[in-house]
Amino acid sequence: MPARRDIVIAVDGPAASGKGTIARALASHFKLPYMDTGLLYRAAALNLFRFGGDPGNEFEAVRACDLTSVSVDDPDLRSEVVGSIASRISAYPGVREQLIERQRRFAALAGGAVLDGRDIGTVIAPQADAKLFVTAAVEVRARRRVAELLARGIAAHFEDVLIDLKARDERDSGRQTAPLVQAPDAFLLDTSDMDIDQAVAAAIGFVEKRLRDSNDRHTPD
Ligand code: CDP
Repeated sequence: MPARRDIVIAVDGPAASGKGTIARALASHFKLPYMDTGLLYRAAALNLFRFGGDPGNEFEAVRACDLTSVSVDDPDLRSEVVGSIASRISAYPGVREQLIERQRRFAALAGGAVLDGRDIGTVIAPQADAKLFVTAAVEVRARRRVAELLARGIAAHFEDVLIDLKARDERDSGRQTAPLVQAPDAFLLDTSDMDIDQAVAAAIGFVEKRLRDSNDRHTPD
């Protein structure tokens, strides 16, 4: 059997669309390493929060991108306040520039990789073999986020979460640098009416088809 070539899979989409779960499932199915790039922005946000920096100040946000003191296991990375600061500071070109290199290095790993975020298929790995844009209606995403928070023992109200998600969508899509946008060659996966098993099956089916199509193109008859 010929050696498998490197496979890079880019998964983008708005908050609470299910992209993280789908990306992890793809990584496990195709036996590839996985990077949640949102964690980098969250780590910078947590740093900034801890040293009392101002999210409204790009210079301070860029300084917070030295991530040596943040552990990926820090539970505060997943907090709503940190997510909200991450969403604000990720609009700064200087912040994105600081974090781009390690994402590109990960995408270039021998054997391939799966990355999820907002700009993977457009900026970090435009050469990716398969790109998915995972989305869902904002009300559905708000219901999922509330359930996720409650499961973690965090009080959450639908209306507040909905307002927060709409604000994040607007910031992510409206920013000048690397806005959240579907790459022209990305597969749109709307999970509004799907449970997670259906969404994962659709994502795996798409990637397998892409790989078959590209093998057919590269294999001489
Ligand atoms: O899923 P959720 O939006 O809550 O969080 P996340 O994916 O961990 O990302 C946190 C924030 O970082 C997002 O709101 C985005 O604004 C930003 N982000 C980004 O700009 N680019 C990425 N590749 C990943 C995250």
